[in-house]
Amino acid sequence: TLKPIICPSLLSSDFAFLARDANHMLDCGADWLHMDVMFKQLSVTITYTPIYLSFCLFFSHFVPNLTIGAPVIKSLRKHTKGHLDCHLMVTNPETLIDDFKNAGADGITFHIEATANRAGGVDITADVIKKIKAAGMQCGISIKPKTPVDVLFPFLDDSVNIVDFILIMTVEPGFGGQSFMQDMMPKVSTLRQRYPNLNIQVDGGIDPNTIGTAAQAGANIVVAGSSLFKPGQDPKDTIQLFKDTINK
Ligand code: DX5
Ligand code: ZN
Repeated sequence: TLKPIICPSLLSSDFAFLARDANHMLDCGADWLHMDVMFKQLSVTITYTPIYLSFCLFFSHFVPNLTIGAPVIKSLRKHTKGHLDCHLMVTNPETLIDDFKNAGADGITFHIEATANRAGGVDITADVIKKIKAAGMQCGISIKPKTPVDVLFPFLDDSVNIVDFILIMTVEPGFGGQSFMQDMMPKVSTLRQRYPNLNIQVDGGIDPNTIGTAAQAGANIVVAGSSLFKPGQDPKDTIQLFKDTINK
């Protein structure tokens, strides 16, 4: 059976005391430290609209928030031995791989929406995987709630570009403290059925009330921000509960 891996999201920590909060979570039994890297960068897509016989410009950002980058990872690296699991919510993840490696990241998860939708998308996605693995880091691929799970199959069936895990978002990426989307569970169970040995991570709204549903569907790596940093509770108990539920 797959080992449970509990990843506190430091997005819910006090950034002024990042190392203290990170090491406290490790002392409480956490396995990885989840670092949410968000960049609210406006990007433009040009689409041809046949009805108006004209081209249309769409402006969008990958996430509506701006958080931390490689310099913060580099600082934290000096003060913790924890596995730094970096979740990149940015439009051009390939531009950050070297910076994160040099900063001391242990793993990089990128979003397939940021690679596959571009011209030559399948190749870009494969290149990003290759680059992360060549740098000696773990590689994860993530999908947002509106993205169907089958876009991941080609990369999981590929024996050359091997990814270490898949991250199924259980909230719309951008902020901590949102409600768990139960309707993402079919994606998790589909993956679990197709790939019995795959490490599957879930991120967003995981707490003592939702962990059962996520574990039942087949997730074994869980990210949790607000539920572990909630004042007045002991993260040790919550981390243990998450592990026991996944092991059940
Ligand atoms: C959301 C981030 C999550 C977030 C989870 O975009 O990817 O990692 O910090 O926070 P909670 O557990 O509070 O939903
Ligand atoms: Zn995250």
